[in-house]
Amino acid sequence: MALFGSDTRLTGFSRGGSPPHRPKAALRTAIYPGWTLLQPALRLRQDADMELYPVLKHTHMALAAVSVAGFTLRGLAVLAGARWPMKAGVRQASMVVDTLLLAAALGLWAQLAWAPMGWLHAKLGFLVAYIVLGVLALRRARSWLGKALSFLLALLCVAQVFWIARLHHPLGLLKGVF
Ligand code: HEM
Repeated sequence: MALFGSDTRLTGFSRGGSPPHRPKAALRTAIYPGWTLLQPALRLRQDADMELYPVLKHTHMALAAVSVAGFTLRGLAVLAGARWPMKAGVRQASMVVDTLLLAAALGLWAQLAWAPMGWLHAKLGFLVAYIVLGVLALRRARSWLGKALSFLLALLCVAQVFWIARLHHPLGLLKGVF
């Protein structure tokens, strides 16, 4: 997987050959002859990183599915007048899933060297809107209508989060419209 080379699909920019912040191999060997001894160990680490990325990505996607399914169930139950969605155990379970989801997401981004990606920034914007609307839908909105509207808008926002990630495009679902 050419994540750290010239692949521009994810990051939107090319680093062109060897990354500028890394000295050239010959210079490294001249300055520090022991470098050649380190090479196999470094290559092993890079291979491990490349194997880790798909694992992290699938973990991230699975956790995102669990998180959104949980929110949808809780939102529908709140609208139906149930009390269980706000019980301590349910809230804690949802917090654990969301924390793991965020950890996997940050792990992915770290593997991409925290590259500034337009689609990822748009995704984070919709994620913030989803969280705010989610709090309104489950707890804060005072009327049933307010909760229902917030719930609907939260689902639209998370659909955008999903499609922005799938398409790697900041417009997500609206990509074909504009
Ligand atoms: C509810 C929250 C989230 C959902 C539903 C979600 C969904 C997804 C999905 C479906 C993918 C796979 C895209 C593909 O098929 O290629 C993905 C990848 C990714 N997500 Fe998320 N995500 C969420 C939160 C986050 C957050 C908070 C971050 C960053 C801090 C993040 C960063 C990434 C990155 C870097 C990738 C890898 C893209 C790739 O390799 O193609 N995600 N996300």
